[in-house]
Amino acid sequence: KKQERNIRNIMRNRLPNQLLDILETAGKMAEEIGTEAYVVGGFVRDVLLTKTNFDLDLVVESDGIEFAKKLAKKMDGRAKYHRKFKTAVVILPDGQRVDVATARLEYYEYPAALPTVELSSIKMDLYRRDFTVNALAVHINPPSFGKLVDFFGSQRDLKDRTIRVLHALSFVEDPTRIMRAVRFEQRFNFRIGGQTLSLIKNALKLNLINKLSGYRLVHELKLILNEKAVFSSIKRLNELGVLEAVHPMLTLNSARTQVLAELEKVLSWYSMLYLEPPIAVWKTYFLGMCMGLSKAKMEQIYDRFNFSQSERREFVHLREAIFWAAGNIMNIKQDLKPSEIYEILHPVPLEGVLFIMARTKREAIKKYISQYLTSLRLMKIDVSGDDLKELGLIPSPQYAKLLKQTKLACLDGIIKGKNEQIDFLKRKIKEFKPQRQT
Ligand code: CTP
Repeated sequence: KKQERNIRNIMRNRLPNQLLDILETAGKMAEEIGTEAYVVGGFVRDVLLTKTNFDLDLVVESDGIEFAKKLAKKMDGRAKYHRKFKTAVVILPDGQRVDVATARLEYYEYPAALPTVELSSIKMDLYRRDFTVNALAVHINPPSFGKLVDFFGSQRDLKDRTIRVLHALSFVEDPTRIMRAVRFEQRFNFRIGGQTLSLIKNALKLNLINKLSGYRLVHELKLILNEKAVFSSIKRLNELGVLEAVHPMLTLNSARTQVLAELEKVLSWYSMLYLEPPIAVWKTYFLGMCMGLSKAKMEQIYDRFNFSQSERREFVHLREAIFWAAGNIMNIKQDLKPSEIYEILHPVPLEGVLFIMARTKREAIKKYISQYLTSLRLMKIDVSGDDLKELGLIPSPQYAKLLKQTKLACLDGIIKGKNEQIDFLKRKIKEFKPQRQT
């Protein structure tokens, strides 16, 4: 008989009280109703790996929607639900979300694969999940609060640092799991197990990736590109043949490999600075993955990912802005003034500026870009349209031009402080010789 493990004390030590509270309240409620409740999935995995995870997923062996409504009432939250999927989410007053699902025997049917009658609902619920490391549950009913439910060797795989599916049809059922396997493998620095690796190769041979909608593909890709270990994940996807299966033009070459490695450095440097606004990291990596493709070929990629018209326009614009700015900045022979750096880089979305930074091998240009990102871009002038109005200028597009000139002059240190900026504006207004001055 398997040894039972209770992780109540581990939970008490590692979890914030507020989360423990929710689990205890839900467990007590389950006991009152006469059902069994469990916290499952990534949350349990991360407790055992001592990682922070506030995504609470509960599974109850009764009507999950009823359960969620009751829990919401008891904890002053509100419940939203999907009748069709028998799932609900409770949103507590502090914004904490608690997902509640119904464990159901009939969730998936495996003809002749399993003696279903012998399985409890929670076991069946866990069996339909992606990997053993995500298939743990912790019982939260008071008598056995903290009891670890491990039917499939999850603890062993966590210890051996292995990503393993629960059954041979896992990737057939849901081919996005191929990308999830890589994501978890690289996030935790685990290895995909031998048999699981063969199943992935089989799934690729069967072209299962082709059957995925662009929407689901992009969703999984974004999740990977927003993780920490992006470079190693992309290399792994390439090595397994996943990139090629998504689209042959996405296969890595040495130029892309180099730029992606450099992007990881640039983006982690940038994220350490905590600058505003936050950028869409995945877009920068996506540019790296597509490097070298013509505009026409990019259309095929957008098609494969089912990008909307506005997403397409955004990437077309991003690529053009990069092309223009990179051309300008690479052609520079002499030193650049801050205002010149600003004028070249300002029209480019930040994702593109970071891309240019990663792509260039010239240290001087990297320095210019760093200067732009960390200071030039953020510099504010002390004058505004109000000052121009006071100087008697009628509002017109000239306002923007004058303020921009002031900004450029400030960037180069030609003028400093509000008084000098006002004087500068006065001089410029005279030079412009505006006709309609009040
Ligand atoms: N799941 C699955 N197959 C999928 C997606 C999800 O079996 N294609 C299951 C997994 O068991 C997972 C749970 O649903 O643990 C919740 O999914 P998700 O929130 O995506 O996974 P987490 O493990 O919580 O991942 P993360 O840490 O990235 O949030």
